[in-house]
Amino acid sequence: MMYRGGSSLGSGNSMMMEAIDVTKRFGKDTVLASVSFRLDKGQSMAVLGPSGSGKTTLLSLLGLLLTPSSGEILFQGQRIQGLSDRELSNLRNHQLGYVFPSSQLIGSLTVWDNILLPARLAGKTREKQKRSRELIEQLGLATRMDHLPHQLSFGQKRRAALARALVMEPQLILADEPTNDLDDNMAKEVSRVLQGAKARGISLIIATHDYPLAESMERRFRIDRGRLSDVTVTDRELGERKGG
Ligand SMILES: Nc1ncnc2c1ncn2[C@@H]1O[C@H](COP(=O)(O)OP(=O)(O)O)[C@@H](O)[C@H]1O
Ligand SMILES: [Mg+2]
Repeated sequence: MMYRGGSSLGSGNSMMMEAIDVTKRFGKDTVLASVSFRLDKGQSMAVLGPSGSGKTTLLSLLGLLLTPSSGEILFQGQRIQGLSDRELSNLRNHQLGYVFPSSQLIGSLTVWDNILLPARLAGKTREKQKRSRELIEQLGLATRMDHLPHQLSFGQKRRAALARALVMEPQLILADEPTNDLDDNMAKEVSRVLQGAKARGISLIIATHDYPLAESMERRFRIDRGRLSDVTVTDRELGERKGG
């Protein structure tokens, strides 16, 4: 199957991401078993689950950074298996935004240059400068623009990685525990910035322990012993019962 690139894909198709019976094994350990879900364009979802339950593994699969042991992943209706390396890197670079603890900043570049780097590589430096400034401001990095990564706290590095992903306005942002290492105020700010991205039509898949952040997503899923279940309705009912 050919990947034709960008918005020419599946016109009238509202699907962003779909997993069908996806299993991931590491050696003899089955981390994810028969995971299926579908996320429409512009939707947001949280993935909850205790440490070691497979959240990062799931995000890596959906971010096309890992291959399933079995099952299928579709991005915008397109089967991922069978794409060439070039087609895959095209998707990773132009359609997906990653906010992973491992998405490191380049040590020799300032915060500003790190955030603008993807734009520079895409030849879009000029048109992305304003947006970069806005994000730097919103994420409380204005006084850190000229700093090098080693001069930043973990939380500041995380926010810079978030700004770098958001500047490019990808179709889908995958964020792995984006509010870890942040105090409550900053966590709220990150949550607001993510909501802002969603308002711009960007889909979100977020692994998190942060319940307020999870609640701000339209849908919530939980991983339990390798199984992924949609708990959006259950959680809402619980909330209502608590509230009423
Ligand atoms: N590359 C790997 N090789 C072997 N085991 C792995 C690998 N990546 C993750 N695991 C294992 O898979 C399980 C799920 O890990 P992970 O997806 O990081 O969970 P979470 O993000 O929910 O904490 C853990 O038991 C972890 O040790
Ligand atoms: Mg993890």
